[in-house]
Amino acid sequence: MSFASVATAAYLVASLLFVLSLAGLSKHETAKHGLTAGVTGMVIAVAATVGLVLDGHPDIASIALLVTAVLVGGTIGLWRARVVQMTGMPELIALLHSFVGLAAVLVGWNGYLASEHLQGSLAGIHHAEIFIGVFIGAVTFTGSIVAFLKLSARIKSTPVMLPGKNLINLGALVLFATLTVAFVIDPQLWELIVVTIVALGLGWHLVASIGGGDMPVVVSMLNSYSGWAAAASGFLLGNDLLIVTGALVGSSGAYLSYIMCQAMNRSFLSVIAGGFGIQASSAGEAEQADHREIHVDDAAELLNSASSVVITPGYGMAVAQAQYPVAELTRILRDRGVNVRFGIHPVAGRLPGHMNVLLAEAKVPYDIVLEMDEINDELSVTDVVLVIGANDTVNPSTTEDPGSPIAGMPVLRVWEASNVIVFKRSMAAGYAGVQNPLFFRDNTQMLFGDAKERVEEILGAAREGHTRTGKETSSMTV
Ligand code: TAP
Repeated sequence: MSFASVATAAYLVASLLFVLSLAGLSKHETAKHGLTAGVTGMVIAVAATVGLVLDGHPDIASIALLVTAVLVGGTIGLWRARVVQMTGMPELIALLHSFVGLAAVLVGWNGYLASEHLQGSLAGIHHAEIFIGVFIGAVTFTGSIVAFLKLSARIKSTPVMLPGKNLINLGALVLFATLTVAFVIDPQLWELIVVTIVALGLGWHLVASIGGGDMPVVVSMLNSYSGWAAAASGFLLGNDLLIVTGALVGSSGAYLSYIMCQAMNRSFLSVIAGGFGIQASSAGEAEQADHREIHVDDAAELLNSASSVVITPGYGMAVAQAQYPVAELTRILRDRGVNVRFGIHPVAGRLPGHMNVLLAEAKVPYDIVLEMDEINDELSVTDVVLVIGANDTVNPSTTEDPGSPIAGMPVLRVWEASNVIVFKRSMAAGYAGVQNPLFFRDNTQMLFGDAKERVEEILGAAREGHTRTGKETSSMTV
């Protein structure tokens, strides 16, 4: 039996393990098994690929290149995975997607430069694979770099609104389609150069035109694109595993984008078309109004007298790493008979399931962690809501201001509760850059400072049974 058939069998096993991995990752209880299946599949895939290369009796320089690439790539990957903070995951993922895109572009170009001997219909298919692979890869490459820059706050996350932006995108697609036909019939170097430049520009424009609040969808969409780019490379390299894996990533990423669009009341087609139909809108950042401030002792007292409390965490809880004192506060309140629950918005934080992971890490029981739709109707009968480092996900302007950049996005209706305490460091806007009218409501009080420090101070006051009377609320102008 040749090694090629062993490798084919190994690829089949690896593909099945990847499918099992995706299935496992869809539930808390089976997530660890899912990860194990994925890692095992990848080890088998890499071993089979290296075996295939060695079976072709390559020269020593090629082997040295392969070993160096695996060692350097593996070492950087391990190092980054070890040091990355949870809050930095989305930008790391975006950067990794850009590598997949770049690889697809390089594979495509290499395919063109090495394909001159091909004739007939096989050549046509080969040229189509090259052209489509380079296009998807280049869109993924620059799109992911813009996503990385936006997510790491190196550039502003507000959407770029070029005049005639929809026409620009449409024009680029029409040009791509026309050039594909021309390239399949008679491949010319200039066509490949033009499509590479057009696709690089389109990738940049598509993601730059999407606003802060829609970035979660963009990340999963680029995940999908990177899958299709890998599948295109698989066709070009004649590698079945790359085709299957790329298709799995491409379709699961597309489905995730679709689910997220539904959760955020966004049109899937509009988002993948770079915000098609979305008009420039005022961010309203400079809103001037009075807000009330609350101090730790008064917040502890308010919690003392509450019989129902809902905690809505957001990105700030992750930054402050406040999940441990929050879990401790939850335990103390529950021991006192208070009905404490968590309300989790689908895009709270910076990656899907971000808050669930943090709360699970701090050992908050799963059964009191509810999704937005499960808790929203309960908020009007809740005594106190603690908004811990959340902002866009509790912003009433989504329903009240049709001109808001995040208009239409379903949010946690915390303002319906009797009292709302917002933990944050300043009056600054959230990720989407939109001011939050919640902060100026009569039943809202701001507790300024680092969320972890403030929750720890409340814990201290709660432990001492500290019940200072007399409110010290102050009125300030933003
Ligand atoms: P954000 O709107 O991002 O607001 C977080 C708030 O936390 C900020 O207003 C900030 O105010 C506060 N904060 C930061 N550090 C803090 C600290 N140490 N202590 C206390 N507060 C702190 O949060 P959100 O409600 O979770 O919304 C998530 C946003 O991210 C949405 O717009 C979503 O679309 C976007 N996004 C989500 C994802 C995914 S998949 N979840 C991916 C990309 C983007 P101060 O600076 O005043 O403290």
